[in-house]
This record gives sequence, C-alpha cells and structure tokens, in this order.
Amino acid sequence: MHKVLITGGAGFIGQNLVHAWRTARPEDGLVVLDAMTYAANIRSLEPLIASGSILFIKGDIRDAGMVRSLFDEHKFDRVLHLAAESHVDRSIVDPEAFLQTNVLGTFTLLKAALDCWRASDTMSQSRFLHVSTDEVYGSLKLTDPPFSESNPYRPNSPYAASKAASDHLVRSYVVTYGLPALITNCSNNYGPYQHPEKLIPLMIIHALEGKPLPIYGDGSNIRDWLHVSEHCRALMTIIERGSPGETYNVGGRSERNNRDVVGTICDLIDRAFAEDPALAARFPSCPAATKQSSHSLIRYVTDRPGHDHRYAIDSDKLAMKLGERCHITFEAGLDQTVHWYLDHQSWWDEIVTGGYKAWLDKNYSFRTAV
Ligand code: NAD
Ligand code: TYD
Repeated sequence: MHKVLITGGAGFIGQNLVHAWRTARPEDGLVVLDAMTYAANIRSLEPLIASGSILFIKGDIRDAGMVRSLFDEHKFDRVLHLAAESHVDRSIVDPEAFLQTNVLGTFTLLKAALDCWRASDTMSQSRFLHVSTDEVYGSLKLTDPPFSESNPYRPNSPYAASKAASDHLVRSYVVTYGLPALITNCSNNYGPYQHPEKLIPLMIIHALEGKPLPIYGDGSNIRDWLHVSEHCRALMTIIERGSPGETYNVGGRSERNNRDVVGTICDLIDRAFAEDPALAARFPSCPAATKQSSHSLIRYVTDRPGHDHRYAIDSDKLAMKLGERCHITFEAGLDQTVHWYLDHQSWWDEIVTGGYKAWLDKNYSFRTAV
C-alpha cells in the first residue's frame, strides 16, 4: 500500500489520473493538492471527496511550509507532480505565472520530498514522478525523426522554457542528492475533462454553439495526439516500474495537422447530428442543426507567435523497457471525446459561462493545510 500525492489533481490530466489510480489501486492513500486556478475543476472528484476516498487539499505548491507539513503528516512514498500553468497562449501573455508555478513550485516539492525522505530514511523505496511535455524539445521539421529521450532541449515558448527549467531541476536533484525521481515528456493529451481553452474542446464547443473555429496560421502545425487514459496508464506503470533518474517519452503515435483535427471534429459533429435528431433542439446554433456542415465555421486567423511547427514522440523506450504501448486510434479517441462533450454539456457550460466558479464559491469550503 502506497501513500500517494498527486499535485494538480483537479486539472485535466490530474482528474483522469485520480480516477484511474483510485480504480486500479483502491488500497492506496490518495491526497490531491491543487491551488484551484481557473484551470481546475473538482466536479468529477466530488463523490471521491465526499466519501473520504481521497483527501483534497487546496494549496499552492510554492507554499514551502504547507508542502513540507503535508509530507510530514502523510509520509508520501509516491509523488506524481502535475500541477502547472499549462497553456502556451497564456504563457505568451503572462509568462511570470509560469516561472512561479512551474519552476519555483517544482523546486518547493523537490526540496520537501528530499528533506522528508532523508529524515525518515525512506529514499530508496520512494518515487517522485515529474510530468513534463514534449514541448521542451522544440519544433521538428517534417523530415525529422520523432523526439527521443536524447534530443537536446530547445524550448520556444515561455511555457516550454518553464517546463524545461523544471526538468533540469529534477535532473539536478537526482544527480546531486540521489532523489529517486523520474521524468516523463508526453505529447498533446485529449479526452474527458479538458479545459475548453485547448484546441480539441474549444473546437467542439464552438461548433456546437455556432461560433467561429479559429485555426492559427495555415493550420499545417502538427501535434502527436495521446488519449489521456493511455497517458494515465503509462504514468502508473512508470512510477512503479521505471528506473529512478530515467526519462520516458510518452506519445500517441497519432500525428495530425490542425486542419485535419478540426476537419475531423466537424465531420464527427455533423454525423452525430445526423444520427441523433434530438441534438438539433439542444444545440440549435450548430450548423448541423439545420443540415449545414460545421466546416462552414472554420476561420484561419493570425498565427501564434513562435508557433512550433511539429511535435512527434518516439515512445520506443517505454514500449521496450516497460511494455507500455498506445492502442487507441486517434479517430476512435476523438469520436469518444466528441460524444463525451455532447453528453456533458453542463460540465463545460458551467466553465464557459462562469457558473462553475459561482457554484464553487457557494458550495465548497476547502480544507487548507496548515
Ligand atoms: P491543467 O492546466 O488542466 O491543470 C493544471 C492543474 O494545476 C490545475 O488544476 C491547477 O489548478 C493546478 N495548479 C496550477 N498552479 C498551481 C500551483 N501553484 N499550486 C498547486 N496547483 C496548481 O493541466 P493538464 O493539461 O492537466 O497538465 C498536467 C501536467 O501535464 C502539466 O504539468 C503539463 O505541463 C503536463 N502536460 C500536459 C499536456 C497536455 O496536453 N494537457 C501535454 C504535455 C504535458
Ligand atoms: P493547444 O491545445 O493550445 O496545445 P499546444 O499549444 O500545447 O500544442 O494547441 C494545439 C494546436 O492547436 C497548436 O498548434 C495551436 C493550435 N490552436 C489553434 O489553431 N486554434 C486554437 O484556438 C487553439 C487553442 C490552438
């Protein structure tokens, strides 16, 4: 039985990971630490919090005293660190928040883990998994091979630079202090509970609401799409069976350019409306409600500054060493995701209209750590 800390557990990947961990390892103690920024949502965690199946702490990973007291109280032997500022567009507008959380917050956690595990002489049996991104490797040309773990770091956005800095800090703690830490660099995730500011949910929701679908530049930029459930499974495998000090790339083996991603979303929405006449009444502004194509909403807009052209991940190390491979095809995963957003309108509507924050303020008083 492990005592597990998941930071950022109210975010997109975090919520999926909390549910996956709870299902796979019900005997483990599970503490979720999250600052509840705009990106967080605990609706899906509510039943687990209410039943005492997880302990949810609202707190900032930069708060060194609070973080250390959590380690002392709960004696974690597994830390999965996902808390971060994660949206590239926001990092262009407000880079400081990214340095604060992604770099200083990671430092605070590393220090608490090291101090606690040293004091309790539990270093060898403990593990710290730092969840990072393929964006640290920079951008690929079309003819380049996918990123492997030995690619040099060439971050291009403030987000990517802040994650690269945090990766370097983690590495330094392994080499200098012997902290049993591992790093994962994964490609773009998609699936349930993703915040409506990211490409796939944004396009689904805009199409349903009849709003323009803004594709940056000419839409030729390529991402390697990874279903969040496969990412979570890989994280659970890596923290248990990966070697401390190692980095593992996690990819979806699904390179697609943004034009194709948005086009496929439009096709899936049009098909869903054709198959289910009730959708037209629920989403009357969607072109498919009047038998028009959602493709008509596509608009090409000004490109993102410093927009990386292509990411692609070589996950051979993960497959060869730990036997982890992706099985969900992008088309099947995207179809499931479109239907998830169709079936969970109230979840995203509350975020889009600001109702979630109002609900949270009214209904929830968090336990904050002392
Ligand atoms: P997210 O933005 O959906 O969630 C991040 C969570 O961290 C939020 O719940 C937020 O409240 C919390 N948080 C932010 N600042 C905090 C602070 N100072 N203290 C405590 N909590 C704080 O992000 P995500 O998409 O779930 O990503 C999770 C991790 O995976 C991040 O480290 C991100 O860099 C990495 N990653 C994500 C993707 C992706 O496609 N989503 C791809 C590669 C890597
Ligand atoms: P995003 O989901 O922000 O992830 P990241 O920047 O971390 O890869 O964006 C994915 C791709 O989609 C990226 O190439 C930028 C592009 N994009 C658009 O074209 N329009 C949009 O409205 C958004 C949010 C992203």
